[in-house]
Amino acid sequence: MKIIIVKNEVEGGQEGYKIFADAKKNGAHTFGLATGSTPITTYNDIIASDLDFSDSISINLDEYIGLAADNDQSYNYFMHEHLFNKKPFKKSYLPNGLAKDIDAEAKRYDQVIEDNPIDLQILGLGRNGHIGFNEPGTSREIGTHRVSLTQSTIDANARFFAHEEDVPKEALSMGLASIMKSKHILLEAYGEEKADAVKGMIEGPDTPDLPASILQNHDNVTVILDEAAASKL
Ligand code: GLP
Repeated sequence: MKIIIVKNEVEGGQEGYKIFADAKKNGAHTFGLATGSTPITTYNDIIASDLDFSDSISINLDEYIGLAADNDQSYNYFMHEHLFNKKPFKKSYLPNGLAKDIDAEAKRYDQVIEDNPIDLQILGLGRNGHIGFNEPGTSREIGTHRVSLTQSTIDANARFFAHEEDVPKEALSMGLASIMKSKHILLEAYGEEKADAVKGMIEGPDTPDLPASILQNHDNVTVILDEAAASKL
């Protein structure tokens, strides 16, 4: 893993942006995208740049089950607000959290990923070490799947909702095996509350109990951390 330590997430965003720009220059066509507060500074720098994604594909990691695309807490809405409205892609894929048949939707999504191999995947990191919505204990073999969110994730995400009971309890997430197939993985983590997960991901045992530790097995991972997230290394 290549580790870049920056002062804060504004600098982290600039480093993340450079990785997108390099990937684009080197012919990357399909970008795996993430939601959450972490990638926002990178998306802001992309928006401010002249990078053009109108010929590129994007594939998002995950979506809540039960929220419509126009719900302002859905990941679909988030992506439009924070990137797509200003930097449209030729085609952007997200799981459909309102699909009637969730298993069929998961299969459809796996096909999308297979048809569009991801050149660069950006990831945030859950406080418990989850990536996408692959919570601790998730099998590393399964593809896109239905997830029951852990209480820790529900608590962490409650800050975005008016009431904790509004936080969806389930999501659809790309699987770890699909994430690992990406040619280049960029993980960003900021803040003290990520420090334990960062330490486990980089220095700890490679274990399903800390999903991000699987990245120790990938040969092209860049990690951008601020000093607080790196403080336990
Ligand atoms: C959610 C998302 C993850 C994200 C994580 C961290 O659970 N499913 O993709 O990485 O939150 O969020 P944040 O970046 O806001 O700390």
